[in-house]
Amino acid sequence: MRVMIGTSSKMNLTSTEAAAYLDALVPLISDLPDRQLFVLLPFTSIWVARDRLAGTGIGWGAQDVHPEDAGAHTGDVSAPMLADLGCTYVEVGHRERRRDHGETNESVVAKVGAIQRWGMTAIVCIGEVQRAPSDVVGEELDRQIERLAATDPGHLVIAYEPAWAIGVGAETAPAAWVGQVHTMIRTSLATAGPAWQAVPIIYGGSVAPATARDLLGQPGVDGLFVGRQALDPRVFSEIAHTPTTDPAVRQRRAGA
Ligand code: PGA
Repeated sequence: MRVMIGTSSKMNLTSTEAAAYLDALVPLISDLPDRQLFVLLPFTSIWVARDRLAGTGIGWGAQDVHPEDAGAHTGDVSAPMLADLGCTYVEVGHRERRRDHGETNESVVAKVGAIQRWGMTAIVCIGEVQRAPSDVVGEELDRQIERLAATDPGHLVIAYEPAWAIGVGAETAPAAWVGQVHTMIRTSLATAGPAWQAVPIIYGGSVAPATARDLLGQPGVDGLFVGRQALDPRVFSEIAHTPTTDPAVRQRRAGA
């Protein structure tokens, strides 16, 4: 399993800004073929990602999708539209979409179905709203995960994103906590069958250069999902270049 490092720019980067961003970013991270890199832009900038990222090995995608393929859904964007723009990833279930658009575990699963029908990989965000003991968090996450059982594990990435660690002013999740939760998620996925053991589990929430190495060194952390820090291409590049020097981590990855 290649280490995944990706970003969602959230509601940032007009198409003009995205062009400048990607022109700066691509040369900085094009020396990392052993990493799976991706950039998720607003709908209006995805065509720029196709223009700038095609042939680079860096994936691109969207931050949401409608569960239906077409029809009377004013303002929405469907999976075939995203696939047509070369998207390979679509994020769903982010805490901000749950908050701003009432996204639920049910609607997330419907969206995952659409994404996978069109051959793309769903990045499903899960996570607790408030800090709580690990058994409480484990139960909450299990409820979010169990609905995914009917989806295709071969086109799925789980992003653990505790709401309390996302965004400006949030707490920084201790790396050991992240490792503990990822291990719980991995255990929970393993009960669904062998194919589920290969589902990458990445971490998102205030990831920064100073925390990336510790996070990537944790058991079960297969990658990082970066928010605001990645809006500076140099900082995203720094995070993308984070070494995973811990021999135990290297060995585990080699066996994965
Ligand atoms: P942040 O966002 O890095 O700005 O906290 C993370 C996320 O929402 O994935």
